[in-house]
Amino acid sequence: MSRRRLRALVLAGGRGTRLRPFTPALPKQLMPVAGKPVLVRCLEQLPALGVSEAAVIVGDGRPQIEAVLGDGSGLGLSVTYVPQPEPLGLAHCVALARAFLGDDSFVLCLGDVVVTDGLAAAHERFVCEGPDAVVLTAKVADPRQYGVVEVDGRGRVLALAEKPRVPRSDLVLAGVYFLSPAVHKAVAGLRPSARGELEITDALSALVADGATVLSTPVTGYWKDVGDVEAVLDCNRVLMEALAPERAGSVDAASRLDGTVVVESGASVLRSRLIGPVLVGAGSVVRDSRVGPYTAIGRDCRVSDTEITGSVLLDGAVMAGLDGVHNSVIGRGAEVRATHPRTDRCFLVGDHTYVEV
Ligand code: G1P
Repeated sequence: MSRRRLRALVLAGGRGTRLRPFTPALPKQLMPVAGKPVLVRCLEQLPALGVSEAAVIVGDGRPQIEAVLGDGSGLGLSVTYVPQPEPLGLAHCVALARAFLGDDSFVLCLGDVVVTDGLAAAHERFVCEGPDAVVLTAKVADPRQYGVVEVDGRGRVLALAEKPRVPRSDLVLAGVYFLSPAVHKAVAGLRPSARGELEITDALSALVADGATVLSTPVTGYWKDVGDVEAVLDCNRVLMEALAPERAGSVDAASRLDGTVVVESGASVLRSRLIGPVLVGAGSVVRDSRVGPYTAIGRDCRVSDTEITGSVLLDGAVMAGLDGVHNSVIGRGAEVRATHPRTDRCFLVGDHTYVEV
C-alpha cells in the first residue's frame, strides 16, 4: 500500500430530490454557487492535497457532468468516470471504484458538499499519524439527518451511527473522508442499511469495531451540504463574500457599481445600479435594473427593469419588469416576466419555464 499516493473518489451520482424543480434535469452537483458549480469547487481543492487522479461516480447526469469537467485537465487532474446505475450508497461507490483505487489511499468527497477549510489539516493527520481513516466533522443543531460521530478528547472516533433517531452527539460526518485501503474489506462485509444503501458510516463502524484507528478533524471554515434551495442561497451568500472584483465586460456611464462586482467578459451593464457582491456572468445583459447584494447571474442571462437581491440565476435565464425579487433561484433558460409590477416576490423557477406574473 502506498500512503504517499493519494487518489480521489468524488461522488456525483445521487438524484437530488430535495432540489426539485432544478433536478433531475440539472445534476445537483452542477448547481452554481457564487458562479461556480459545487462539483467544480470540490475538484479544485484536490491538487493541493497532492491528488492527480480522480474518479467521479456518475448517474444519469453523466453527459452534463462530463461536459463541465471533461478529462479534468482544466482543473489539474486526470478524471475517470465510473457509472453508478442505481444510487445504492456511498460505500457502494467505493466498491464500484475498486479497480481505479487499487491499493492506494484515497480521499472520498461528496460532490454536493462545500467545505472551505479543514481539508489540509485532515490530510496532514492522515499522512503524519498513519491511521486507517480520518473523517472531517461538523457540529450541527439537528444531527438526525447525518452520520453521527462520537469522539474522544484527541479526536479518535469511538462510535458512529447513520441518521440515528436519538443522536449521541452533535458532531456529524461532513462528507470528506481520507481512507486507507483497509476500508475495502469493511465495505465488502456490509449489508444494506434501513434505507437500502451501503453506508460508508457502517464501513467506518466496522473498522472501529475491528480495532482500526479512525480519527476526526473538524471543518474549520464554512461547510454546507448543498442539498436544497435554502442551502444553495446560503452557500451563494457566503461564497460571494470571497469574490474578487473584475470588470472584463462593459459598464455604461449611467450605471453605478458599489462593493464587489464581477462583470465577466462579454457581459454588459446598462443604466443599472449593482450593489455588491454581485456577479454578472459572461454574455449576460443587465439593463435598467437594481441588482444585489448577493446575487449571482449566470452566463447569457437577460435582466431588465428588475429589482433583485439574494438570488441565483442559472445560465440563460430571463427576468423582465419585476420588483422586489429576493431569495430566488431561476432555472436555465427560464423566463419570468411581469405585466403589472408588484413588490416582494420569491421565485423557484425550473429550467426552460415561462412565468408571467
Ligand atoms: C451523507 C452521509 C452522512 C453524512 C452526509 C453529509 O448523507 O450518509 O453520513 O453526514 O452525507 O452531508 P446523505 O446525503 O446521503 O443523506
